[in-house]
Amino acid sequence: MIDVIIYVIGTVILAMWLMIPAYISNPMAVVFGGGTPIDRGMKWTDGQRILGDGKTIRGLIGGTACGIVAGIMQIYIASYFASAFSILIIPTMTAVITLSFGALLGDLIKSFFKRRIGFVRGAELPLIDQLDFVAGAWLLTYIFDPVWFTENFISSPSIIVTVLVLTPILHRLTNIFGYSIKLKKEPW
Ligand code: CTP
Ligand code: MG
Repeated sequence: MIDVIIYVIGTVILAMWLMIPAYISNPMAVVFGGGTPIDRGMKWTDGQRILGDGKTIRGLIGGTACGIVAGIMQIYIASYFASAFSILIIPTMTAVITLSFGALLGDLIKSFFKRRIGFVRGAELPLIDQLDFVAGAWLLTYIFDPVWFTENFISSPSIIVTVLVLTPILHRLTNIFGYSIKLKKEPW
């Protein structure tokens, strides 16, 4: 029993650790967001905005930069404590960049499709709103660093399942917090 508990806790810690760049870049886009929208107000052929006012250049750049800084800190921490905490895997610089940027790219692509199906900016799309950034982060990392991604995600399905279960919960809690401090317009 005790080894099961240790295994579960270890898996949760590792899953969160591996996702840190994405877990930082996504909320930091909200913190830095505002100003010129990425689509610069342009409309798609359907008459709706391409992405909408919720996707801004400042959010994209600020969020990505924060995720990368967090990832670089992880590289140092994991390298320094490699012997003591072998559970902390060292992310590659490529993975740090693709997890941070991929997360916001996933969020952006989701917004594109949200506008196409007629959802206005901020309307809730359950589960997709919570996992879009995971999909983007994983896809970009798989494309640019397939070796690291396979080693740490594809070859450990328990990590994938943990991320998929944990992320919507963390996302919800973060957004309720962001809403309560008036950083976000909706609590989702
Ligand atoms: N944000 C931003 N730039 C991004 C992503 C997010 O500026 N690339 C900011 C915006 O202020 C946005 C807020 O973070 O309103 C919340 O992000 P999100 O929930 O992803 O956007 P929504 O406003 O809900 O828009 P959408 O319906 O397109 O998801
Ligand atoms: Mg939203």
